[in-house]
Amino acid sequence: MQPTVIAPSILSADFARLGDEVNAVLGAGADWVHFDVMDNHYVPNLTIGPMVCEALRKHGITAPIDVHLMVEPVDRIVPDFARAGASMISFHPEASRHVHRTIQLIKANGCQAGLVLNPATPVEVLDYVLEDLDMVLLMSVNPGFGGQSFIPSTLDKLRRVRAMIDARAPQVRLEIDGGVKADNIGEIAAAGADTFVAGSAIFNAEDYADVIGRMKAAVAA
Ligand code: DX5
Ligand code: ZN
Repeated sequence: MQPTVIAPSILSADFARLGDEVNAVLGAGADWVHFDVMDNHYVPNLTIGPMVCEALRKHGITAPIDVHLMVEPVDRIVPDFARAGASMISFHPEASRHVHRTIQLIKANGCQAGLVLNPATPVEVLDYVLEDLDMVLLMSVNPGFGGQSFIPSTLDKLRRVRAMIDARAPQVRLEIDGGVKADNIGEIAAAGADTFVAGSAIFNAEDYADVIGRMKAAVAA
């Protein structure tokens, strides 16, 4: 199990004040910035691209930027995000024609590589690539929107992937994304996640430090 990471999803931030919002959650105890990229093709929504990532770096953000690509095709945008300052880049296997090639491409561009499993994607997709990855990201909602409810069957999937990671590649992080709140993060951590994305639960809170503190306490309990 890797050290706990809380990664607020800026999808739920006030985009008109994005730099300030990111500084505020980092100052409130967040570890990474989760950066959701949607293309209105792989998912039915449209968000932000490499220019915004680069703008955050120019704004002085030095924390890891965790880029979650919900785009198809994947490969041609990877070098752009690496140049823009991404730290890790995760993608969905359904959106890449050659999953192993895309993982190698991300690493060749100097970033850590993650593979994202949708709620209905079987864990067997990890069988031949787990050792090549830096992170597995399990979606606990269908990708495309913030503010959805955690799908309970993800807990069993977390336990299965945690067992695979512990047996074969303990250096790999296990990230969870979708519907994570202060009141369910404890059982999500117990099921095996070490890296927690939370969008609406953090950015809709009055006090970022309070909610991030409660999340970290629940994980440690
Ligand atoms: C959904 C995104 C998530 C989303 C999470 O496609 O990948 O990162 O922002 O938002 P919450 O925490 O509100 O479910
Ligand atoms: Zn995400």
